[in-house]
Amino acid sequence: MKDTIKKILASFDIELRKITNEENNASQLFKKHQLLYQKYRNYTMIPEKEFLDNLELCYSYRNIPGAIVECGVWRGGMIAAIAETVGKDRTYYLFDSFEGLPEVKEIDGKAAQKWQANKESPGYYDNCKAEEEYAEKAMTLAQVNKKHLVKGWFSNTLSTYPADEKIAILRLDGDWYESTMDCLTNLFDKVVPGGVILIDDYYMWDGCSRAVHDFLSMRKATERIQKSINGVCYIQKNYD
Ligand SMILES: C[S@@+](CC[C@H](N)C(=O)[O-])C[C@H]1O[C@@H](n2cnc3c(N)ncnc32)[C@H](O)[C@@H]1O
Repeated sequence: MKDTIKKILASFDIELRKITNEENNASQLFKKHQLLYQKYRNYTMIPEKEFLDNLELCYSYRNIPGAIVECGVWRGGMIAAIAETVGKDRTYYLFDSFEGLPEVKEIDGKAAQKWQANKESPGYYDNCKAEEEYAEKAMTLAQVNKKHLVKGWFSNTLSTYPADEKIAILRLDGDWYESTMDCLTNLFDKVVPGGVILIDDYYMWDGCSRAVHDFLSMRKATERIQKSINGVCYIQKNYD
């Protein structure tokens, strides 16, 4: 019977085979991540495809030791979901002004200037301003115990990051040149060899991409800028 079915399917160029354990696990993980998107969709402005790519990438770095840090958290949905896929027992740092984005500068490019000038656009989100309570709630939903919400401008707060706290995953989502540069200057060296830096706005805003290029080139860094299937930019820290 099985052979007959196989032959019929083969005549339509369809091969019947059992899915491998690996495929099964990948599909279970993808479903888990989709559920996380549903859970946190009101706490993030990241579109579903990119959100899922962020989770998949972070999951692939789950065995790297160190803290998880996000700079530019808004309502905290992305880092809360990362906590659910990477592990709730890590230490999490959330840096944000909770006052929205700083004023755009010339270096951020025309598109960014236009975006900030148009306060009526659906993607404006009150200049990306969110109350701190949302991020608190998101991290509580993720049942994370060791969390530090650090309120203030990156230029004032990032230098307070503990000297001995190494980072496994660093996620940058501060949009503009100076915000991105402040994050890289203060935290790039804290990322462990083999750890990862995800850069949300690299393909979106000129200022962000310029900051990444300027920083890497100032450092004469050889780390590669990589791209996930749905366009998430990331850099894996070199092994020394
Ligand atoms: C696009 S939103 C972040 C989106 C968020 N990661 C999510 O999951 O939806 C950008 C955030 O970066 C913060 N931000 C940008 N530049 C900053 C700076 N220089 N200092 C502090 N916060 C900053 C804003 O307050 C805003 O919450």
